[in-house]
Amino acid sequence: MKKLIIEGGNPLNGDIEISGAKNAAVAILPSAIMATKGTCVIDNIPQISDIECIKKIIESLGAKVVSDNNLVTIDSTCINSYDANIEEVQKMRASYYLIGALLGRFKKARVEMPGGCAIGVRPIDQHIKGFEALGAKVTIEHGAVIAEADKLVGTNIYFDVVSVGATINVMLAAVFAEGKTILENCAKEPHIVDVANFLNSMGANIKGAGTDVIRINGVNELKGCNYSVIPDQIEAGTYMMAAAACGGKVNINNVIPKHLESISAKLIEMGVDITENGDSITIESSRKLKGVNVKTLPYPGFPTDLQQPMTTLLSTAKGRSIVNESIWESRFKHVDELKKMGAKVKVESNLAVIEGVECLTGAKIVATDLRAGAAMVIAGLIAKGTTEVTNLEHIDRGYPNIENKLNSLGAKITRIEK
Ligand code: EPU
Repeated sequence: MKKLIIEGGNPLNGDIEISGAKNAAVAILPSAIMATKGTCVIDNIPQISDIECIKKIIESLGAKVVSDNNLVTIDSTCINSYDANIEEVQKMRASYYLIGALLGRFKKARVEMPGGCAIGVRPIDQHIKGFEALGAKVTIEHGAVIAEADKLVGTNIYFDVVSVGATINVMLAAVFAEGKTILENCAKEPHIVDVANFLNSMGANIKGAGTDVIRINGVNELKGCNYSVIPDQIEAGTYMMAAAACGGKVNINNVIPKHLESISAKLIEMGVDITENGDSITIESSRKLKGVNVKTLPYPGFPTDLQQPMTTLLSTAKGRSIVNESIWESRFKHVDELKKMGAKVKVESNLAVIEGVECLTGAKIVATDLRAGAAMVIAGLIAKGTTEVTNLEHIDRGYPNIENKLNSLGAKITRIEK
């Protein structure tokens, strides 16, 4: 069985490079299929399994995809199918961006229902509401979403909930809608701005991404472009927490510090020293940290995707901490694993009450989803003795070279491949 063996108790020191943002890249690659002329040359694409899945899906539609490390070139001029039905579609969440992209380009899309981490009910009603408002007929048949329209026409759409996926997906379809579309109550995550910048580089006319109102003037065609994906806010936050938990001094390079403010604020409150230097952030921690309360919120609030690593960090902080998970209803599955290591955490509905313990002890634990996997790795790094983490396929969906990056800082992690 694939596993990570972690010898805990080593401080982290040195420099670490952050990769391109997963949740931007998994939306930008599907968006690239909207270019009917030229090729898209996209840099800083992270090397993770979710990206391999997206590349296979867009190739199955007829696109030509060439990869060279972090550089991906996509020629979509030859796409000849609007039906995304290979098994990779159901392995990940972001395959749903093909609905907006194909509907925009062909006025027709058939996409198998997406998969992704089991962190709660993951409805797509707001995506469908947006497509319908633009004039599409959307049905769900035999496990696939089918969206069709004679033409898409711009309109005003108010999202009932703040949704990253719905904001991006409806923005994609609206790029090719006639006239003006105004999206209100939009999500404001950095990856939404990145996708809008990418689309604008291809010739779209999108204004306001990063605020809660996005205005899109429809265009008739998009062409290829050169683009570089932003650094991954969540990968950076994960390593900030690892450094804070293990103690030592770590420079986290290739970041946008503004995107990390909610995380830096909490770590400073816990007693971590943080300094910013341009596109780098330095974390210095003595490990003598105090507990804090955290509530997950849409950007610019504290990201839900860092709640699980944060719970691990708080498990050995002094005193009581309360973590309120306000986005996903089942995102505390990692707590049972932390308890095997001696953590004192009580979960009630969307709250976790953590009584900090002196130390965790190594155990055999499971990565129950992607970010839970990162939380387990941090737990192994701070625990006394040896920890074995299994279900690595979750971690590999979103963290490029996690063990190599951490080992370069002084961690002792070995990957067993079978
Ligand atoms: N929601 C609805 N209806 C919808 C869409 C969402 O009610 O049509 C609700 C959800 O149930 C949830 C909330 O709105 O309670 C937010 O969901 P959102 O749509 O923002 O989530 P998502 O687009 O499915 C993305 C990330 C997640 C991240 C969330 C929140 C991608 C591929 N996934 O998911 O990332 O947790 O936004 O920031 O971008 C991860 O990377 O580990 C991950 C799970």
